[in-house]
Amino acid sequence: MDTGMSVTDSSLETVRVDLGPRSYDILVGHGALDQLGPRLKGLLKRPRVFVLTDENVAAAHRERVELLLKASGIESDWLALVPGEKTKSFTNLDTILGWLLKGGAERSDILVALGGGVIGDIAGLSASLMKRGMSFVQVPTTLLAQVDSSVGGKTAVNSPHGKNLIGAFYQPRLVIADTELLATLPPRELRAGYAEIVKYGLINDPAFFDWLEDNGPRVVALEPDAITHAVAVSCRAKAAIVAEDETEAGVRALLNLGHTFGHALEAANEYKPDLLHGEAVAIGMALAFRFGAGQGITPKEDAVRVRKILEAGGLLAEIPGRQGGPYTAAHLVELMKQDKKASAGKVPLILARGIGQSYIHPDADLGAVEAFLKAELLES
Ligand code: NAD
Ligand code: GLY
Repeated sequence: MDTGMSVTDSSLETVRVDLGPRSYDILVGHGALDQLGPRLKGLLKRPRVFVLTDENVAAAHRERVELLLKASGIESDWLALVPGEKTKSFTNLDTILGWLLKGGAERSDILVALGGGVIGDIAGLSASLMKRGMSFVQVPTTLLAQVDSSVGGKTAVNSPHGKNLIGAFYQPRLVIADTELLATLPPRELRAGYAEIVKYGLINDPAFFDWLEDNGPRVVALEPDAITHAVAVSCRAKAAIVAEDETEAGVRALLNLGHTFGHALEAANEYKPDLLHGEAVAIGMALAFRFGAGQGITPKEDAVRVRKILEAGGLLAEIPGRQGGPYTAAHLVELMKQDKKASAGKVPLILARGIGQSYIHPDADLGAVEAFLKAELLES
Protein backbone atom coordinates (compact mmCIF):
# COMPACT_ATOMS: atom_id res chain seq x y z
CA MET A 1 0.00 0.00 0.00
CA ASP A 2 1.30 3.49 -0.82
CA THR A 3 1.34 5.28 2.52
CA GLY A 4 2.40 8.58 0.95
CA MET A 5 5.47 8.65 3.20
CA SER A 6 8.98 7.43 2.61
CA VAL A 7 12.20 7.72 4.58
CA THR A 8 14.84 9.74 2.71
CA ASP A 9 17.73 9.29 5.14
CA SER A 10 18.19 8.20 8.72
CA SER A 11 16.55 11.29 10.20
CA LEU A 12 14.29 12.88 7.56
CA GLU A 13 10.90 11.74 6.38
CA THR A 14 9.17 12.79 3.17
CA VAL A 15 5.38 13.11 3.00
CA ARG A 16 3.86 13.58 -0.44
CA VAL A 17 0.79 15.76 -0.90
CA ASP A 18 -0.82 14.17 -3.90
CA LEU A 19 -2.67 16.78 -5.93
CA GLY A 20 -1.85 15.94 -9.54
CA PRO A 21 0.02 18.85 -11.12
CA ARG A 22 -0.01 20.69 -7.77
CA SER A 23 1.63 17.82 -5.83
CA TYR A 24 4.52 18.57 -3.49
CA ASP A 25 6.77 17.10 -0.83
CA ILE A 26 6.92 17.91 2.87
CA LEU A 27 10.36 17.17 4.34
CA VAL A 28 10.16 16.53 8.06
CA GLY A 29 12.82 16.14 10.72
CA HIS A 30 15.80 17.55 12.57
CA GLY A 31 18.08 19.24 10.04
CA ALA A 32 15.52 19.31 7.19
CA LEU A 33 16.51 22.94 6.63
CA ASP A 34 19.79 21.76 5.13
CA GLN A 35 17.70 20.58 2.17
CA LEU A 36 16.29 24.07 1.50
CA GLY A 37 19.07 25.31 -0.78
CA PRO A 38 19.51 22.10 -2.79
CA ARG A 39 15.73 21.68 -3.22
CA LEU A 40 15.22 25.34 -4.19
CA LYS A 41 17.94 25.07 -6.81
CA GLY A 42 15.86 22.41 -8.51
CA LEU A 43 12.85 24.74 -8.61
CA LEU A 44 14.47 28.10 -9.44
CA LYS A 45 15.17 29.58 -12.87
CA ARG A 46 17.65 32.07 -11.39
CA PRO A 47 19.57 31.85 -8.10
CA ARG A 48 17.53 34.34 -6.07
CA VAL A 49 14.62 34.09 -3.64
CA PHE A 50 12.40 36.42 -1.63
CA VAL A 51 12.06 35.48 2.05
CA LEU A 52 9.11 36.71 4.09
CA THR A 53 9.39 36.28 7.85
CA ASP A 54 8.55 38.01 11.11
CA GLU A 55 10.90 39.82 13.47
CA ASN A 56 10.99 37.05 16.11
CA VAL A 57 11.82 34.38 13.57
CA ALA A 58 14.35 36.64 11.84
CA ALA A 59 16.13 37.22 15.15
CA ALA A 60 16.34 33.50 15.85
CA HIS A 61 16.93 32.01 12.40
CA ARG A 62 17.67 34.53 9.64
CA GLU A 63 21.45 34.30 9.85
CA ARG A 64 21.48 30.54 9.45
CA VAL A 65 18.92 30.48 6.62
CA GLU A 66 20.77 33.20 4.74
CA LEU A 67 24.04 31.28 5.08
CA LEU A 68 22.45 28.04 3.95
CA LEU A 69 21.01 29.75 0.89
CA LYS A 70 24.38 31.36 0.11
CA ALA A 71 26.07 27.98 0.41
CA SER A 72 23.80 26.83 -2.42
CA GLY A 73 24.64 29.97 -4.43
CA ILE A 74 21.21 31.57 -3.83
CA GLU A 75 20.88 35.29 -3.05
CA SER A 76 17.97 36.35 -0.87
CA ASP A 77 15.86 39.50 -0.36
CA TRP A 78 14.27 39.67 3.09
CA LEU A 79 11.19 41.30 4.59
CA ALA A 80 10.53 40.83 8.33
CA LEU A 81 7.04 41.84 9.52
CA VAL A 82 5.84 42.60 13.05
CA PRO A 83 4.89 39.30 14.77
CA GLY A 84 1.28 38.54 15.57
CA GLU A 85 -2.17 37.93 14.14
CA LYS A 86 -2.70 41.63 13.26
CA THR A 87 0.00 41.22 10.61
CA LYS A 88 -2.43 39.16 8.51
CA SER A 89 -3.94 42.35 7.07
CA PHE A 90 -4.80 43.88 3.72
CA THR A 91 -2.28 46.64 4.47
CA ASN A 92 0.54 44.13 4.83
CA LEU A 93 -0.60 42.30 1.69
CA ASP A 94 -0.06 45.58 -0.13
CA THR A 95 3.32 46.04 1.58
CA ILE A 96 4.47 42.56 0.54
CA LEU A 97 3.32 42.93 -3.06
CA GLY A 98 5.04 46.34 -3.24
CA TRP A 99 8.26 44.83 -1.83
CA LEU A 100 8.15 42.01 -4.41
CA LEU A 101 7.48 44.37 -7.32
CA LYS A 102 10.16 46.82 -6.21
CA GLY A 103 12.58 43.93 -5.91
CA GLY A 104 11.87 42.91 -9.50
CA ALA A 105 10.17 39.62 -8.64
CA GLU A 106 9.32 37.52 -11.64
CA ARG A 107 6.54 34.97 -11.87
CA SER A 108 9.07 32.15 -11.93
CA ASP A 109 10.80 33.38 -8.74
CA ILE A 110 10.02 31.82 -5.38
CA LEU A 111 8.67 33.45 -2.23
CA VAL A 112 9.83 31.58 0.86
CA ALA A 113 7.56 31.82 3.92
CA LEU A 114 9.78 31.44 6.99
CA GLY A 115 7.56 31.61 10.05
CA GLY A 116 4.38 30.48 11.74
CA GLY A 117 0.86 30.36 10.34
CA VAL A 118 0.59 34.14 10.15
CA ILE A 119 3.55 34.44 7.78
CA GLY A 120 2.60 31.28 5.85
CA ASP A 121 -0.98 32.46 5.28
CA ILE A 122 -0.13 35.97 4.10
CA ALA A 123 2.87 34.80 2.05
CA GLY A 124 0.70 32.24 0.28
CA LEU A 125 -1.97 34.78 -0.55
CA SER A 126 0.67 37.28 -1.75
CA ALA A 127 2.23 34.62 -3.98
CA SER A 128 -1.16 33.71 -5.44
CA LEU A 129 -1.74 37.35 -6.43
CA MET A 130 1.76 38.28 -7.56
CA LYS A 131 1.71 38.39 -11.37
CA ARG A 132 -1.26 35.97 -11.15
CA GLY A 133 0.75 33.41 -9.25
CA MET A 134 4.41 33.15 -8.32
CA SER A 135 5.70 30.00 -6.65
CA PHE A 136 6.06 29.77 -2.92
CA VAL A 137 7.76 27.45 -0.46
CA GLN A 138 6.77 27.02 3.18
CA VAL A 139 9.39 26.77 5.92
CA PRO A 140 7.12 26.55 8.98
CA THR A 141 8.72 27.50 12.30
CA THR A 142 5.87 26.86 14.77
CA LEU A 143 4.53 23.42 15.61
CA LEU A 144 1.07 24.53 14.51
CA ALA A 145 2.41 25.61 11.14
CA GLN A 146 4.42 22.38 10.72
CA VAL A 147 1.42 20.11 11.33
CA ASP A 148 -1.39 22.23 9.95
CA SER A 149 -1.17 25.64 8.31
CA SER A 150 1.79 25.03 5.97
CA VAL A 151 0.07 22.01 4.43
CA GLY A 152 -2.97 22.09 2.19
CA GLY A 153 -2.91 25.47 0.48
CA LYS A 154 -5.31 27.55 2.54
CA THR A 155 -4.04 31.14 2.44
CA ALA A 156 -5.68 34.23 3.88
CA VAL A 157 -5.65 37.62 5.50
CA ASN A 158 -8.16 38.85 8.08
CA SER A 159 -10.83 41.50 7.59
CA PRO A 160 -12.57 43.73 10.13
CA HIS A 161 -15.55 41.46 9.32
CA GLY A 162 -13.76 38.37 10.57
CA LYS A 163 -10.73 36.08 10.50
CA ASN A 164 -9.45 34.51 7.28
CA LEU A 165 -12.34 35.91 5.22
CA ILE A 166 -10.14 37.00 2.31
CA GLY A 167 -8.10 34.18 0.87
CA ALA A 168 -7.43 31.61 -1.78
CA PHE A 169 -6.51 27.96 -2.13
CA TYR A 170 -2.94 28.12 -3.39
CA GLN A 171 -0.55 25.24 -2.84
CA PRO A 172 3.18 25.65 -2.06
CA ARG A 173 5.79 23.90 -4.23
CA LEU A 174 7.55 22.43 -1.20
CA VAL A 175 7.34 22.41 2.60
CA ILE A 176 10.42 22.05 4.80
CA ALA A 177 9.41 21.27 8.40
CA ASP A 178 12.65 21.31 10.35
CA THR A 179 11.74 20.23 13.88
CA GLU A 180 14.99 21.71 15.18
CA LEU A 181 13.58 25.20 14.52
CA LEU A 182 11.03 24.55 17.27
CA ALA A 183 13.72 24.77 19.96
CA THR A 184 13.34 28.58 20.08
CA LEU A 185 9.53 28.52 20.16
CA PRO A 186 7.87 29.78 23.38
CA PRO A 187 6.48 26.77 25.33
CA ARG A 188 2.87 27.96 25.11
CA GLU A 189 3.10 28.14 21.31
CA LEU A 190 4.54 24.63 21.32
CA ARG A 191 1.67 23.27 23.41
CA ALA A 192 -0.87 25.04 21.18
CA GLY A 193 0.60 23.16 18.20
CA TYR A 194 0.46 19.90 20.14
CA ALA A 195 -3.34 20.28 20.31
CA GLU A 196 -3.46 20.03 16.50
CA ILE A 197 -1.35 16.85 16.66
CA VAL A 198 -3.80 15.26 19.11
CA LYS A 199 -6.56 16.27 16.67
CA TYR A 200 -5.25 13.89 13.98
CA GLY A 201 -5.46 10.95 16.40
CA LEU A 202 -9.00 11.93 17.27
CA ILE A 203 -10.13 12.34 13.66
CA ASN A 204 -9.27 8.92 12.27
CA ASP A 205 -6.13 7.40 13.79
CA PRO A 206 -6.79 5.70 17.15
CA ALA A 207 -3.38 3.95 17.06
CA PHE A 208 -1.67 7.35 16.83
CA PHE A 209 -3.79 8.56 19.75
CA ASP A 210 -2.64 5.52 21.78
CA TRP A 211 0.96 6.34 20.81
CA LEU A 212 0.49 9.94 21.94
CA GLU A 213 -0.91 8.81 25.30
CA ASP A 214 2.45 7.12 25.88
CA ASN A 215 4.75 9.51 24.02
CA GLY A 216 3.04 12.93 24.19
CA PRO A 217 5.46 14.25 26.85
CA ARG A 218 8.41 13.23 24.63
CA VAL A 219 6.82 15.10 21.72
CA VAL A 220 6.36 18.27 23.78
CA ALA A 221 9.93 17.88 25.09
CA LEU A 222 11.06 17.89 21.42
CA GLU A 223 12.88 14.57 21.61
CA PRO A 224 14.04 14.24 17.99
CA ASP A 225 12.54 10.84 17.14
CA ALA A 226 9.23 11.60 18.89
CA ILE A 227 8.69 15.08 17.43
CA THR A 228 9.70 13.94 13.93
CA HIS A 229 7.30 11.00 14.10
CA ALA A 230 4.45 13.15 15.42
CA VAL A 231 4.92 15.86 12.78
CA ALA A 232 5.27 13.33 9.95
CA VAL A 233 2.17 11.35 10.97
CA SER A 234 0.21 14.60 11.30
CA CYS A 235 1.33 15.85 7.89
CA ARG A 236 0.51 12.48 6.32
CA ALA A 237 -2.97 12.60 7.88
CA LYS A 238 -3.61 16.11 6.62
CA ALA A 239 -2.12 15.32 3.19
CA ALA A 240 -4.52 12.38 2.79
CA ILE A 241 -7.56 14.49 3.63
CA VAL A 242 -6.44 17.38 1.42
CA ALA A 243 -5.74 15.00 -1.48
CA GLU A 244 -9.32 13.74 -1.19
CA ASP A 245 -10.93 17.17 -0.84
CA GLU A 246 -8.63 20.07 -1.70
CA THR A 247 -11.24 22.83 -1.48
CA GLU A 248 -13.28 21.65 1.51
CA ALA A 249 -16.37 20.46 -0.34
CA GLY A 250 -16.71 17.58 2.12
CA VAL A 251 -14.31 15.48 4.14
CA ARG A 252 -11.78 18.30 4.72
CA ALA A 253 -14.27 19.72 7.24
CA LEU A 254 -13.11 16.94 9.61
CA LEU A 255 -9.97 19.04 10.14
CA ASN A 256 -12.26 21.47 11.94
CA LEU A 257 -12.73 19.11 14.90
CA GLY A 258 -12.87 21.34 17.99
CA HIS A 259 -12.90 24.47 15.84
CA THR A 260 -16.59 25.44 16.07
CA PHE A 261 -16.41 25.66 19.87
CA GLY A 262 -12.81 26.93 19.63
CA HIS A 263 -13.60 29.76 17.21
CA ALA A 264 -16.51 30.88 19.38
CA LEU A 265 -14.17 31.02 22.39
CA GLU A 266 -11.53 32.95 20.42
CA ALA A 267 -14.11 35.43 19.10
CA ALA A 268 -15.70 35.88 22.53
CA ASN A 269 -12.20 36.60 23.87
CA GLU A 270 -11.69 39.09 21.01
CA TYR A 271 -8.66 37.11 19.79
CA LYS A 272 -6.58 38.30 22.72
CA PRO A 273 -3.27 36.47 23.11
CA ASP A 274 -4.25 34.95 26.46
CA LEU A 275 -6.11 32.30 24.42
CA LEU A 276 -4.07 31.03 21.46
CA HIS A 277 -5.80 29.32 18.54
CA GLY A 278 -4.43 25.88 19.44
CA GLU A 279 -5.40 26.37 23.08
CA ALA A 280 -8.96 27.18 21.99
CA VAL A 281 -8.99 24.12 19.70
CA ALA A 282 -7.89 21.92 22.61
CA ILE A 283 -10.81 23.15 24.72
CA GLY A 284 -13.08 22.83 21.68
CA MET A 285 -12.10 19.18 21.12
CA ALA A 286 -12.74 18.34 24.78
CA LEU A 287 -16.13 20.09 24.52
CA ALA A 288 -17.03 18.25 21.31
CA PHE A 289 -16.31 14.90 22.98
CA ARG A 290 -18.25 15.79 26.14
CA PHE A 291 -21.18 17.18 24.11
CA GLY A 292 -21.16 13.96 22.08
CA ALA A 293 -21.11 11.94 25.29
CA GLY A 294 -24.12 13.86 26.61
CA GLN A 295 -25.96 13.16 23.36
CA GLY A 296 -25.24 9.42 23.62
CA ILE A 297 -22.95 9.56 20.53
CA THR A 298 -19.49 9.40 22.14
CA PRO A 299 -18.47 6.84 24.78
CA LYS A 300 -18.01 8.71 28.08
CA GLU A 301 -14.65 7.01 28.72
CA ASP A 302 -13.33 8.42 25.42
CA ALA A 303 -14.28 11.94 26.50
CA VAL A 304 -12.27 11.31 29.69
CA ARG A 305 -9.25 10.10 27.67
CA VAL A 306 -9.40 13.29 25.59
CA ARG A 307 -9.38 15.46 28.69
CA LYS A 308 -6.44 13.49 30.12
CA ILE A 309 -4.25 13.64 27.00
CA LEU A 310 -4.78 17.38 26.65
CA GLU A 311 -4.07 18.09 30.30
CA ALA A 312 -0.96 15.88 30.14
CA GLY A 313 0.20 18.10 27.25
CA GLY A 314 -0.20 21.20 29.44
CA LEU A 315 -3.45 22.27 27.75
CA LEU A 316 -6.81 23.26 29.21
CA ALA A 317 -9.70 20.89 28.57
CA GLU A 318 -12.44 23.16 29.87
CA ILE A 319 -13.54 26.76 29.35
CA PRO A 320 -11.24 29.08 31.32
CA GLY A 321 -12.81 31.03 34.14
CA ARG A 322 -16.04 29.01 34.04
CA GLN A 323 -18.59 30.74 36.26
CA GLY A 324 -17.91 34.46 36.42
CA GLY A 325 -15.33 34.32 33.60
CA PRO A 326 -15.49 36.20 30.28
CA TYR A 327 -17.68 33.58 28.56
CA THR A 328 -21.42 32.91 28.68
CA ALA A 329 -23.31 30.08 27.00
CA ALA A 330 -25.70 32.49 25.28
CA HIS A 331 -22.86 34.56 23.78
CA LEU A 332 -20.93 31.49 22.61
CA VAL A 333 -24.04 30.11 20.89
CA GLU A 334 -24.71 33.51 19.33
CA LEU A 335 -21.20 33.36 17.85
CA MET A 336 -21.72 29.77 16.67
CA LYS A 337 -24.84 30.92 14.80
CA GLN A 338 -22.58 33.08 12.62
CA ASP A 339 -21.22 29.87 11.05
CA LYS A 340 -22.03 30.12 7.31
CA LYS A 341 -23.77 26.77 7.45
CA ALA A 342 -25.91 27.43 10.52
CA SER A 343 -29.64 27.66 9.90
CA ALA A 344 -32.94 27.22 11.73
CA GLY A 345 -31.33 26.62 15.12
CA LYS A 346 -28.94 23.93 13.82
CA VAL A 347 -25.22 24.00 13.11
CA PRO A 348 -22.83 21.44 11.61
CA LEU A 349 -20.43 20.10 14.26
CA ILE A 350 -17.59 17.61 14.04
CA LEU A 351 -18.48 14.94 16.58
CA ALA A 352 -17.03 11.49 17.27
CA ARG A 353 -18.42 8.01 17.79
CA GLY A 354 -15.17 7.29 19.60
CA ILE A 355 -11.48 8.13 19.47
CA GLY A 356 -10.43 8.09 15.80
CA GLN A 357 -14.06 7.98 14.66
CA SER A 358 -14.91 11.60 13.95
CA TYR A 359 -17.67 12.50 11.52
CA ILE A 360 -19.51 15.54 10.25
CA HIS A 361 -22.74 15.86 12.25
CA PRO A 362 -24.75 18.09 9.91
CA ASP A 363 -27.35 19.52 12.25
CA ALA A 364 -26.43 19.81 15.93
CA ASP A 365 -29.25 21.46 17.85
CA LEU A 366 -28.11 24.82 19.18
CA GLY A 367 -30.60 24.61 22.06
CA ALA A 368 -28.89 21.41 23.22
CA VAL A 369 -25.47 23.05 22.70
CA GLU A 370 -26.52 26.01 24.86
CA ALA A 371 -27.81 23.76 27.64
CA PHE A 372 -24.52 21.82 27.50
CA LEU A 373 -22.43 25.00 27.65
CA LYS A 374 -24.48 26.31 30.58
CA ALA A 375 -23.62 23.14 32.49
CA GLU A 376 -19.95 23.43 31.46
CA LEU A 377 -19.85 27.03 32.64
CA LEU A 378 -21.72 26.21 35.88
CA GLU A 379 -24.36 28.82 34.91
CA SER A 380 -27.61 28.49 36.79
P1 NAD B 1 2.22 32.83 14.55
O1 NAD B 1 2.60 32.74 13.15
O2 NAD B 1 1.65 34.11 15.06
O3 NAD B 1 3.46 32.43 15.47
C1 NAD B 1 3.32 32.45 16.87
C2 NAD B 1 4.43 33.23 17.55
O4 NAD B 1 5.63 32.46 17.54
C3 NAD B 1 4.78 34.55 16.89
O5 NAD B 1 5.07 35.49 17.88
C4 NAD B 1 6.05 34.23 16.10
O6 NAD B 1 6.87 35.35 15.93
C5 NAD B 1 6.70 33.23 17.01
N1 NAD B 1 7.58 32.27 16.35
C6 NAD B 1 7.33 31.55 15.25
N2 NAD B 1 8.29 30.64 15.05
C7 NAD B 1 9.20 30.82 16.03
C8 NAD B 1 10.40 30.17 16.37
N3 NAD B 1 10.83 29.09 15.71
N4 NAD B 1 11.10 30.63 17.43
C9 NAD B 1 10.62 31.67 18.16
N5 NAD B 1 9.46 32.29 17.92
C10 NAD B 1 8.76 31.86 16.86
O7 NAD B 1 1.13 31.72 14.97
P2 NAD B 1 0.82 30.23 14.49
O8 NAD B 1 0.16 29.60 15.64
O9 NAD B 1 1.99 29.58 13.86
O10 NAD B 1 -0.24 30.46 13.33
C11 NAD B 1 -1.50 31.01 13.59
C12 NAD B 1 -2.10 31.43 12.28
O11 NAD B 1 -2.24 30.29 11.44
C13 NAD B 1 -3.47 32.05 12.39
O12 NAD B 1 -3.52 33.21 11.64
C14 NAD B 1 -4.40 31.00 11.80
O13 NAD B 1 -5.53 31.57 11.18
C15 NAD B 1 -3.49 30.35 10.79
N6 NAD B 1 -3.86 28.98 10.43
C16 NAD B 1 -3.91 28.68 9.12
C17 NAD B 1 -4.23 27.39 8.71
C18 NAD B 1 -4.22 27.05 7.27
O14 NAD B 1 -4.64 25.94 6.91
N7 NAD B 1 -3.76 27.92 6.41
C19 NAD B 1 -4.47 26.41 9.67
C20 NAD B 1 -4.39 26.74 11.02
C21 NAD B 1 -4.08 28.04 11.39
N1 GLY C 1 -6.84 23.98 9.07
C1 GLY C 1 -7.94 23.38 8.39
C2 GLY C 1 -7.69 23.12 6.95
O1 GLY C 1 -6.60 23.27 6.46
O2 GLY C 1 -8.62 22.75 6.27
